[in-house]
Amino acid sequence: MSLRKITQLVPAMEVTEGAGVHVYRTIGTPARRNLDPFLMLDQFSTDNPDDYIAGFPEHPHRGFNTFTYMLDGHMQHADSMGNRGDLEPGGAQWMKAGSGVIHSEMPQQISGRMRGFQLWINLPAAKKMTAPAYQDIRAAEIPEVTDDQSRVRVLVGTYGGKTGPVSDTDTRVEYLDVTLPPDQSFNHETAPQHTVFILLFEGTAAVADTPVPAQHLAVLGKGDRLTLQAGEEGARFLLVSGRPIGEPIVQYGPFVMNTRAEIEQAIADYRDGRLVQDVSPG
Ligand code: FE2
Repeated sequence: MSLRKITQLVPAMEVTEGAGVHVYRTIGTPARRNLDPFLMLDQFSTDNPDDYIAGFPEHPHRGFNTFTYMLDGHMQHADSMGNRGDLEPGGAQWMKAGSGVIHSEMPQQISGRMRGFQLWINLPAAKKMTAPAYQDIRAAEIPEVTDDQSRVRVLVGTYGGKTGPVSDTDTRVEYLDVTLPPDQSFNHETAPQHTVFILLFEGTAAVADTPVPAQHLAVLGKGDRLTLQAGEEGARFLLVSGRPIGEPIVQYGPFVMNTRAEIEQAIADYRDGRLVQDVSPG
């Protein structure tokens, strides 16, 4: 058994997305272009409606999955598959863009707090052009494993004998929201070949004795388990892992493919109204 240690602390960079929404990006910045199989991680956290009111009007995606987890606030999703879904506190949404989706994510509030995360997860070449899919997840559908030492919400994968509502067979993602009381430690086994990161979003914590600064993503190195110690205010963090794909990544905004030619095809398809296709499920 070997312990995973922090190999990189990635500072969050403030960027403007959609029609003017302020988000804090860690994966997908110059300091960390990607973290195979993960392509991007945005955190949004604000009490100021000016930061989110413009929302994310219609825009395309091709070639990967998005997973959105809402802590506070209310957004509504609508897409070219005809789905409509409400993202509400504690709920989530998994969307496979596959060969192409056009969607919007618009706030359903004009005041109050908006807080959550969006993670982009790559698809292997063989799955990029398969049919899109969408899964709307209510807060009540997300199992919790609670004891004196921790509260773990299991969004994707399995923890403590409970399996989350999303099953990811392509990259075997595990996505946990972990809350620890003050000074409590958390130990967890992870698949040795998987990429693992931690995003601390409340309190203070250290991973294998290295403190994780606020507004930083901690990338963990090789090993098959991790240990995290909460500070005196306790800690709340995302613990995410996934199986690397190991293929070339060519990204152009909302399109993520393996070659430049495939990106040019995506741009042309979108321009010509062919991004949303009839394809067989896969
Ligand atoms: Fe989107």
